[in-house]
Amino acid sequence: MLEVEGLTKYYSSGVIHKRYVKAVDGVSLIIKKGETLGLVGESGCGKTTVSRLILRLIKPTGGKVLFDGVDLFALKREELRKIRSRMQMIFQDPESSLNPRMKIKDSISEPLKLRKLPKKEIEQRILELMEIVELLPEHINRYPYQLSGGQNQRVILARIIAVNPDFIIADEPTSALDVSVQAQILNMMKDLQKKYDQTYLFISHDLDVVKSIADSIGVMYLGRILVYSITQSIHIHRDYYLPLQLRWGLL
Ligand SMILES: Nc1ncnc2c1ncn2[C@@H]1O[C@H](COP(=O)(O)OP(=O)(O)OP(=O)(O)O)[C@@H](O)[C@H]1O
Ligand SMILES: [Mg+2]
Repeated sequence: MLEVEGLTKYYSSGVIHKRYVKAVDGVSLIIKKGETLGLVGESGCGKTTVSRLILRLIKPTGGKVLFDGVDLFALKREELRKIRSRMQMIFQDPESSLNPRMKIKDSISEPLKLRKLPKKEIEQRILELMEIVELLPEHINRYPYQLSGGQNQRVILARIIAVNPDFIIADEPTSALDVSVQAQILNMMKDLQKKYDQTYLFISHDLDVVKSIADSIGVMYLGRILVYSITQSIHIHRDYYLPLQLRWGLL
């Protein structure tokens, strides 16, 4: 589904002497259809920059991204818009990606309205989607501030299912939630992934969270991927990531 090759992003810094921040420094990865790649690493190692490069939200310094065989960096704006509708991103903080002045039903139905479905059908579909993510019908007329963090993250999941994307980038989607809600949302994402055959890039700084959801794992450090392994055998590389875990204060 996704093939990334030698992806780089340098930011220039330094006023007198030109210097570069190597935010992403030659990242290559492959995600098979229907699978989840977990990307872990400490704060500032380049995880979010990788995801923004993949979605072409920022300009790459170098490298290549193939999505379903299509070279994203070679596409014209109109072609890119079309293919982007097959990709969705879930952000760390659910409240910031929901419009605070929009009721839940409007947030969920935004993508449906773009498809110009009849009003009745849209309402029916909103209720169906809310049921899938286990939101109650009484939530339909509420605003984001009237829901909990976990409930808002469900609203975002409902909106994503409405679009029915092939590929989802989830950037720390559960880090703002408490542990029990986090587990519920992760399980829901796993179920939905199976049901709708979705492919995930799942970003987190928490190795245990990533291990619970990913088929393979990339450990990032200073813009590079240090360890790349299928999840079941990541313990083989314990020597590599042990020092990192110590640095992150996980042990
Ligand atoms: N627009 C920018 N200009 C200059 N440097 C930037 C810019 N955006 C990001 N960086 C730098 O690139 C590096 C990677 O940032 P990035 O946001 O990708 O990290 P991250 O791994 O997502 O961190 P976190 O876990 O804290 O979200 C950081 O050192 C950051 O300061
Ligand atoms: Mg980030």
